[in-house]
Amino acid sequence: MSGVNPYFFIKEVPTEELVKLLARKIKELKSEKDTTANLNLQLRNTVKELKNTQDELLRNREILQDEVKQKTDELINLERVSILGNFTARAAHDLNNPLSVIKNSSQILRINLDKHLDEKSKAQWSRLDRAVARMSHQIDDVLGFVKPPTLERKKHVVASILSDVLERMEIPSNIEIHPPLVGSTIYCDYEKIEIVFVNLLTNAIQAIGNNDGSIDITISDDSDPKYVQIIVQDSGCGVPPNLSDKLFEPFFTTKQTGTGLGLVSCKSIVKEHGGHIGITSIFGKGTTIKLRLPKESEFDNLDTDDQEKTLKIKSR
Ligand SMILES: Nc1ncnc2c1ncn2[C@@H]1O[C@H](COP(=O)(O)OP(=O)(O)OP(=O)(O)O)[C@@H](O)[C@H]1O
Ligand SMILES: [Mg+2]
Repeated sequence: MSGVNPYFFIKEVPTEELVKLLARKIKELKSEKDTTANLNLQLRNTVKELKNTQDELLRNREILQDEVKQKTDELINLERVSILGNFTARAAHDLNNPLSVIKNSSQILRINLDKHLDEKSKAQWSRLDRAVARMSHQIDDVLGFVKPPTLERKKHVVASILSDVLERMEIPSNIEIHPPLVGSTIYCDYEKIEIVFVNLLTNAIQAIGNNDGSIDITISDDSDPKYVQIIVQDSGCGVPPNLSDKLFEPFFTTKQTGTGLGLVSCKSIVKEHGGHIGITSIFGKGTTIKLRLPKESEFDNLDTDDQEKTLKIKSR
C-alpha cells in the first residue's frame, strides 16, 4: 500500500463540499465527545455508588459480626446462668426452711420474753428480725429469678402494700420518703409486689447513701385505662450512661455486697403480672423507676358463669 495516498479522493471533492463534510464530521466528533464525557461521568457515579454499596456492605458485615458475637456471648452466659440457676434454686429452697424456723422462733421468743427485755435488747432483737427479713427477701429474689413466680392475685390498695413495706424497712433519718396520696388498687399478688417495692426502695436508699435525699412515690393513671402507673423517684447518685443498658442483666451489680438480682426479680414479678417496668436515670441527679401494673383481673367484667367457663377453657 506504500506510495498510495489514502486521501486521494479529496482532490476529487469540491472544496465547498469538503468544508461541509469536515464541519459535519467535527460536529459529530464533538457530540461523540460530549456523549463520551457523559458516559464517563455516569461511569464515575456508578463506580462511586458501587464503592458506597461496598462500604455499606462492609459496615453491615461488621455489625452482623458484632451481633453474632453478642448473641454467642449471651448464649454462653445463658447456659452459665441456667446451670447456676439450678444450683441456686436448690440452695435457696434449702435455706428457706431453717430461715422460717429462725423467723418463727424469734417471734415466739420475742412475745414470751418481751416483758423481761430492756430497750437495748429490744432494739437488738428488732435488728435481728430485720436481718432475717432481708435474708428472706434475698432468697425470694433468687427464687423469683430462677423460677417464674406463681401468683396469688387479688385486688389490693397500692398505698397499703407500701405502708407495710415502709413499716418493716429501716429508713435512714437522712432520707425523706413521700408516699403516694391516692388510694388506687391493683390486681396483684401482695407478697410479690412487696418484694418489688422492697427492692426498689432498697436500691433508692443505697443510691442516696449518707447524703440528704428524698424518695417520692406517686401513683397516676396510665395512658391505658386498665393500668396504674407507679413512679418511684430518688435523688440518689444515678447511673452512669454507659451502665444503663446493664441494669436488668442478672448478676449485674456495682455494689460490693450486691447480688445483682434485685431488678431482675422485680422485672420477672412485674412481667408475670402482665405489667411493665422501666428505669431512667441521670448520673449524679437521681433515678426514676416507672411501674405499670394492671388495675383489674381480666375476668373482672365477666359474670360468675362466664368466669367459670373461661377458667375451664384456660385449664384445658
Ligand atoms: N435507684 C438506683 N439508683 C442508682 N443505681 C441503681 C438504682 N437501682 C439500681 N441501680 C444500679 O443497678 C444495679 C443493679 O441493681 P439490682 O437491684 O439488680 O442489684 P443490686 O442492688 O446491686 O444487688 P441486690 O441483688 O442486692 O439488689 C445496682 O448495682 C446499681 O448500680
Ligand atoms: Mg438492689
